Amino acid sequence: MFESTSHNKIDKNDEHIMQITQDLDQISHVAIVTGGNRGIGYEICKELSMSGCRVVLTNRNEEEGKKAIASLHDHDNISYHKLDVTDLNDISGLKGWILKKYGRLDILVNNAGIYLDEGVSVFEVDEKIVQETLAANFYGAFHMCRAFVPIMKQNGYGRIVNISSGYGAMNEMGGYQAAYRISKASQNALTLIMADELRDLNIK
Ligand SMILES: NC(=O)c1ccc[n+]([C@@H]2O[C@H](COP(=O)([O-])OP(=O)(O)OC[C@H]3O[C@@H](n4cnc5c(N)ncnc54)[C@H](OP(=O)(O)O)[C@@H]3O)[C@@H](O)[C@H]2O)c1
Repeated sequence: MFESTSHNKIDKNDEHIMQITQDLDQISHVAIVTGGNRGIGYEICKELSMSGCRVVLTNRNEEEGKKAIASLHDHDNISYHKLDVTDLNDISGLKGWILKKYGRLDILVNNAGIYLDEGVSVFEVDEKIVQETLAANFYGAFHMCRAFVPIMKQNGYGRIVNISSGYGAMNEMGGYQAAYRISKASQNALTLIMADELRDLNIK
């Protein structure tokens, strides 16, 4: 009798724990942060993780990325995945991995960025620098959104944060650092275009 009661209690507890886990699964968002190993991206990973999200910290250098995760006190809910945002194979590899591991993506933070032409005139900047900057800062976010928004659409939920800069704001546009300014202005346009197209889909 005792055994049976105790067993029932355990069953009930198990059921309860399973229910909570399922509920947590439903509310515990899955987030990708690009360029998460240092700077602003690292802080975003920390904050998202502290708020209960399951965070995927990504960057190009696996050793640096894993070191960053290890430096976070509570990192049980942070995973690592290598990602160069300029590499379409990396993006599709990450997409496959996310679908297999979580089956969803709730939050995408396009933070990865480079700033290579500080103080350089638009008439002097090497065109390769302009292309490299656009590849990381604009096309990186563009390709990440095109890869992951379909998953968000399937789940009827998504939040996307494109980390821009005052240097990309049209009302503050000035001279110098043209590669960076143009990449961030393009990213701003992308953000507004997507916001309009997704406005009825609970993806913001
Ligand atoms: N810091 C500022 O004052 C400021 C102001 C306005 C806007 N922002 C924007 O905020 C974002 C973060 O800036 P931050 O100052 O924190 O930069 P940061 O310290 O230089 O870090 C940049 C991050 O981006 C990653 N990254 C660069 N190129 C990448 C690529 N092709 N693929 C994947 N990851 C790549 C780097 O990872 P690796 O280790 O792989 O290089 C690193 O994790 C940028 O978009 C920047 O434009 C910064």
